[in-house]
Amino acid sequence: MSINIKFRSNLPPLIHRSAPSVSTEKQYLKNMPKPIKNKGRGLDNTDDQDKEQTIEEILRELDEMIGLNMVKKFIHELQAFVDIQKKRQKENLANEPLVLHMVFKGNPGSGKTTIARLIGKLFKELGVLQKGHVIECERADLVGEYIGHTANKTRDAVKKSLGGVLFIDEAYSLSRGGEKDFGKEAIDTLVKAMEDYKDNLILILAGYKIEMDHFIESNPGLRSRFPIHITFPDYTLDELFAIGELMLNKRQYEFTPGSKTLCRKILQKKIAEHPYSGNARMVRNIIEKTIRKQAVRLYQQVNLSREDLMCITEIDLESEEI
Ligand SMILES: Nc1ncnc2c1ncn2[C@@H]1O[C@H](COP(=O)(O)OP(=O)(O)OP(=O)(O)O)[C@@H](O)[C@H]1O
Ligand SMILES: [Mg+2]
Repeated sequence: MSINIKFRSNLPPLIHRSAPSVSTEKQYLKNMPKPIKNKGRGLDNTDDQDKEQTIEEILRELDEMIGLNMVKKFIHELQAFVDIQKKRQKENLANEPLVLHMVFKGNPGSGKTTIARLIGKLFKELGVLQKGHVIECERADLVGEYIGHTANKTRDAVKKSLGGVLFIDEAYSLSRGGEKDFGKEAIDTLVKAMEDYKDNLILILAGYKIEMDHFIESNPGLRSRFPIHITFPDYTLDELFAIGELMLNKRQYEFTPGSKTLCRKILQKKIAEHPYSGNARMVRNIIEKTIRKQAVRLYQQVNLSREDLMCITEIDLESEEI
């Protein structure tokens, strides 16, 4: 399993630009609707969404994630690079705006949305983005049903993302219908927005690796505009188990030795069953279900100790077939 993170050149590329289009951006910001909530699902969707964190805290949160070693290394490098560019700017040394639009390639549940949120927060703290929020979209959020509809929908999504990250999942679906499809209009509108708001918007296109490679290669207008490509590998069994344990511990639950073994067996079976098992999302579903099962098990009991309330036993995992 390989991970491939590359800049088209050795360093994050710099772009040359003429005077910034501040007035258009101000106009946009003035008419901006309230940001929509992230579309993520489940218990941890609120993960530090509104809490201000320092750069150190954000990087610690990154480092606490399981695996993803190359992704972590890359983000540390990017952080250092952007930080130094900012410092050079203060000293009036030559610097140019960074092009930070990215392509995330990976299977479902491999951590793409989580890393996008983290990047948003990080770039806000670094002064690259004004807000650092993430707006998650898919084809249906951008593509309309009649002429003119698509450009408006896509522009709305862009407006909501200004100051943060516009994250487009399964981005290749925009080119699904070929030249005549409205998806093409969405791509053209996005490309324009990237130029107009390059100082205050990061676009991340995400999806399965093969489809993303094909999509980017077959759209020359996009290829040159996305210098950063990050590949998210599938997690190993050990990593999936560690993610599950981390999810439990963060919520102040703990496995018993017996439930640990059972959980590993369940994960092993799930991976063997499906080539795309759902990765960390599958683990999260199991953990959330297990927590509900534990609640049902404890509900009829009296005199529950702190330990009882924290303990996940084999019974709680039993609904997962092995
Ligand atoms: N390396 C990791 N360490 C700990 N938790 C992780 C890790 N990767 C993902 N998770 C958790 O797994 C869940 C799914 O991750 P995420 O939503 O980022 O995946 P995704 O690639 O965006 O999936 P999808 O393609 O299905 O949207 C989240 O709850 C996230 O917090
Ligand atoms: Mg996602």
